[in-house]
Formats: sequence, C-alpha cells, structure tokens
Amino acid sequence: MSAAPAHPSEAEAARAHWHPVLDSPALRDTPQAVQLLDQALVLWRDAQGQAHAWADRCPHRGARLSLGRVCEGQLECAYHGWRFAQSGRCVQVPALPDFVPPVGHSAQVFATQEAYGLIWVRLAEGPHALPLFPAEHDGGLRKVLCGPYDVATSAPRIVENFLDMAHFSFVHEGWLGERGRSAIVDYAVQPTATGILATNCWAWQPKSNLHSTQGAMVEYRYEVSAPFAAVLTKVPQAGTTALAAWRESIALFICPVTAETSRVWFRLAVADWDSPDAALQAFQHTIFTQDQPVLESQSPRCLPLDPRAELHTVADKASAAYRRFLKGAGIRFGTC
Ligand code: FES
Ligand SMILES: [Fe+2]
Repeated sequence: MSAAPAHPSEAEAARAHWHPVLDSPALRDTPQAVQLLDQALVLWRDAQGQAHAWADRCPHRGARLSLGRVCEGQLECAYHGWRFAQSGRCVQVPALPDFVPPVGHSAQVFATQEAYGLIWVRLAEGPHALPLFPAEHDGGLRKVLCGPYDVATSAPRIVENFLDMAHFSFVHEGWLGERGRSAIVDYAVQPTATGILATNCWAWQPKSNLHSTQGAMVEYRYEVSAPFAAVLTKVPQAGTTALAAWRESIALFICPVTAETSRVWFRLAVADWDSPDAALQAFQHTIFTQDQPVLESQSPRCLPLDPRAELHTVADKASAAYRRFLKGAGIRFGTC
C-alpha cells in the first residue's frame, strides 16, 4: 500500500503551473489578499516595485499578513508588527528589539512574475513556462485586458466553454451564431505539449467582432496554452468589417480560486488603434455575460474526466481532447 501524500493538495499538478491572480495596476502600496488553488495569498510590492506573493498567514500567530502594511520596503504584520524582508525572512520583532530572528522565522514565499498586465504565481516548482500568447509580441496588434470576472464554476469548465463552437447559435444568437446555421463542420484536433490545438474550425457569425458590417464565415484556431489558459484567433471573411485590416487574437487566463470558483480575464490583441478600450471591452463583456449564466448552471461545477459521465458528439472533440489532456497531465483541481 502506497503512503498517501501528507497534504492532498500538495500532490496537485496544477500547483506547478503559473496562474494569474490580480491585475498588475491593482497592486500598489497596500497589500492585497487573493486566493489561488485554495491557498490564501498576500500580494505586496517592495520599494523597487517588485511584486511578492506569500502565504497570507503570519508565522508568529497566524494573523493574515494582508491586514498589514508595507513599511520601508518590508511587510509589517498588523498584529505584533513583525517585519518581513523581500526574501520572506523576519528581520524585526518589535517586542524584542535586540532579538535577531533566525531563518525559521520566515513567511512562506511563492514564485511571482508579471506578464500580460497580470501578476502570476506558482505554488510549487515545476518545468512549466507562462502560457504563451504569441499575439502579445505582434506590434501590429493592440492589447486590452478585460475583466476580472468572478465566475461560480471550475476553471476547466470555463476553458471548455471557450473551446466550444456548438453553443454559438444558442448562447450568442445574433452575435456569434444564428439558429439554422448551427452545424459544425468537422475540424482538426491534436494534442500539444501544453494542451490541445484545434484548427480549421469554421462558424457563421452575424456579428463576429466590434467592426462587423455583415454576417461572415469566420475561421477559428484554438490552442490550450496551459491547464487553465487558452488562446483563440479568429479571421472573418474579407470585406465583412468596417476596419479593412481587422484581425484579432484573444487569450483566456483563469485564476482557479477554489475548485468551483474562478476569476477570469481576457487579453485582447486587436488590429484597432482607434476604438476606446471601453468599446473593445464592452463587446467582450456582452459575449462573456451571455456565457456566464450557462456556465454557472452546469452541474457538476467540476469538469468530469470520466468519458462516461457526460455525452459527447464529434462536434465536441476539442473538449473531449482537453479532458484527456487534463487527465494525462494529472490536473485534478476543478475536475471530478
Ligand atoms: S501574528 Fe504576526 S506579528 Fe504576531
Ligand atoms: Fe460563449
């Protein structure tokens, strides 16, 4: 009989991946509390502006470090004023001014980086890079962040919805689909190192983007870039947009807050330098708020990985491949 892990969540493969936790500009002088994979975190910025993510628990008496404040580039606990340097090490215990705290007097520190306008955190060491978003580096595309959206379902249910074309004609009727034109032409799916790739995906869309002037056949390409991240590019038929050079790519970035609650951002990359951010965000908002009630209605909220648990058609083969990927990658969080 093999020994069970000391703490079940420590065996969770998702801990070794990078996940977004907060919009970068939202972290200023005040520590912020967030949650990732059931782990409470405090985020704070040091004097150099570098972001840090620590367990939101003071090692002294367990108070929430997010109640504290940043003083002289160090994080000060709100309870007894212990001060912690960027490394996580306690450097001052005000009740004992001459005491030099040993290494064991440290906060629990997690790896942190900033990219795509977001702060990313990894709870365990691993070989995985940040999810790629090739459009981010395309100088011809403007980037706009949408969100966050707090959604009452698991991260994998949200990824699967992002990959799903068969709902366009119903959930997004008049926008991304039309009744009577709901057939899904066969498309190609293949596994990749980070998830799956679906190509040659076609949909008829009455209003495919902010600048659509008429309905169009739109070609989609979907790539799962991490367990809880994906990227789509969509190209409408020529001559169907007011902006002649319109093209776009959208990244879906999800923070798996708990197994059944998620925080969602969309990173838009669009060939449109004139529309206000708010107009681009409003289009995405319209689409996602059509998805949200259906997403939150799905039962169970976790994504079933047993192929017999729900029914599949050929039109669902991208989501079926995503489920197989999660299973193979040992991702259990938000699945059942
Ligand atoms: S609980 Fe943080 S300093 Fe005592
Ligand atoms: Fe949708």
